Amino acid sequence: MDQKLLSAANALINGSLVCFPTETVYGLGADATNKIAVSRIFGIKQRPTTHPLIVHVSTLRMSFNWVANIPEYALELANNYWPGPLTLILQRSKLAKNFITGGQDYVGIRIPNHPIALNLLNEFERLGGFGVAAPSANKFGAVSTTSVSAVLDEIGEDLSFNDVVLDGGDCKIGIESTIVDCSGPSPRILRPGAITHGMINSVLKNNVHVQSIEFENSLRSPGSTKYHYMPLAQVVINQEPTPGSGLLALDSVDTPNGVTRLARPSDSSEFARVLYASYRLADKLGLKKIFVFPPIGSGIEKAIDDRVKKSALK
Ligand code: TXA
Ligand code: MG
Repeated sequence: MDQKLLSAANALINGSLVCFPTETVYGLGADATNKIAVSRIFGIKQRPTTHPLIVHVSTLRMSFNWVANIPEYALELANNYWPGPLTLILQRSKLAKNFITGGQDYVGIRIPNHPIALNLLNEFERLGGFGVAAPSANKFGAVSTTSVSAVLDEIGEDLSFNDVVLDGGDCKIGIESTIVDCSGPSPRILRPGAITHGMINSVLKNNVHVQSIEFENSLRSPGSTKYHYMPLAQVVINQEPTPGSGLLALDSVDTPNGVTRLARPSDSSEFARVLYASYRLADKLGLKKIFVFPPIGSGIEKAIDDRVKKSALK
């Protein structure tokens, strides 16, 4: 295995932090059983400690260490969509301490679908590790990072000599995983993502159906705050761009005179992929406003819509 990956796995075992790529966004990882290492994540992100972290593992078998009980529908979801952009909220085992779950009896688990992330987790587990706690590698409330340069811009100065940053290029999906609450008799989507409502329903059996927490409700549900996914610039949705501002819209939309085109994605997947990089670009250019025309649809468009709406709240 790649030398850098081996030293990253060792860094985790030794209590240091590792920034690593996943298919969704970059993660800021620590050994999920190491309270001191995990507390550094909260320090660097300036994130309230009541805000729970997702534990990343490399196999379904490893996930069993972290959970006390898995409903059948959750197993179906795991079997179909892991590794992948799906986080399941499950009843915790004793391994998942309060410093991971924010004091809740449920823990978020994910197997990411990215060769670097999977190799890192595999090697970490081979060395005796159980799982890697990793939020998105950005300051609390800022937009997630989808490239190494974004990671370094956000938290580079906060990392220590022994911490490791792994470069996996640009993230393929570009927005965070779908979070599914599996604490009740049927699943509930807490955060939409690339695993869509339709994809979830299509694998559920026994008349179990997934519910989506609507945007308005999700603002009030635990773990979500008003100040998520925000660039410095003001995001304006579906309005005519004014000169001097930035524009993010599908390729078919023209750029008015005096407006800076941030990206011209050709479809919804590409829109998701370039969303956060476009926000970062606008901030780098010092633009005051970003005009966004989110694509319409019932797939990943729901996740784009969720992030864009949250980023527009000021
Ligand atoms: O795609 C992703 O999910 C990325 C990559 C790195 O895996 N991670 C990520 O983590 O987005 P983070 O911490 O930035 O967002 C995780 C969200 C938070 O809003 C948190 O409140 C929620 O998941 N969450 C985590 N554990 C939870 C739990 N036990 N119960 C309810 N919500 C939970
Ligand atoms: Mg985050």
